[in-house]
Amino acid sequence: MLQKKITITYNEYSAEELSAWQENLIEKSIESQSSSYSPYSQFKVGAAILLDDNSIVLGSNQENAAYPSGLCAERVAIFSCGVIHPSKTIKAIAISASTDKFDLNELLAPCGACRQSMLEFEHKQGENIKVLLKGFNGHVVEFNAVSDLLPIPFNCDALQNVS
Ligand code: THU
Repeated sequence: MLQKKITITYNEYSAEELSAWQENLIEKSIESQSSSYSPYSQFKVGAAILLDDNSIVLGSNQENAAYPSGLCAERVAIFSCGVIHPSKTIKAIAISASTDKFDLNELLAPCGACRQSMLEFEHKQGENIKVLLKGFNGHVVEFNAVSDLLPIPFNCDALQNVS
């Protein structure tokens, strides 16, 4: 038996340590929360994606009375990129959340389905997408790639023999 270990390295920045593009992208994700449609959870999530030409694509969570029909902010944003900017490279995504209902005192981490969806774009473009997460203590956590958030992934390589 072999026991193997996966190590994930990420950066944690205080507000003062953020670079201009990081600060701007986080800010845009916060602004994007204002378009959140979340009457059921009252949990507003905003996402902002930075493209290689420095344009920014926004997303926010969009809920539905039939709960599973709603969509997370990250997928709204990244699928928009697929439609509006199919040939541009995605450099980074920033994600933030807020709610009036209760105190948020933990980092918002993207759900598994969003990690899988973002990984598809990273795999397709062959370049890493940085993931910035707004912590609730003013700190920002940065992962260098979506794949760091989804080790041992399922991707299209597994489908290569399907015809
Ligand atoms: N949500 C997101 O938009 N992104 C996440 O990463 C986690 C959860 C949304 C889905 C739902 O509208 C609300 O937050 C509560 O789960």
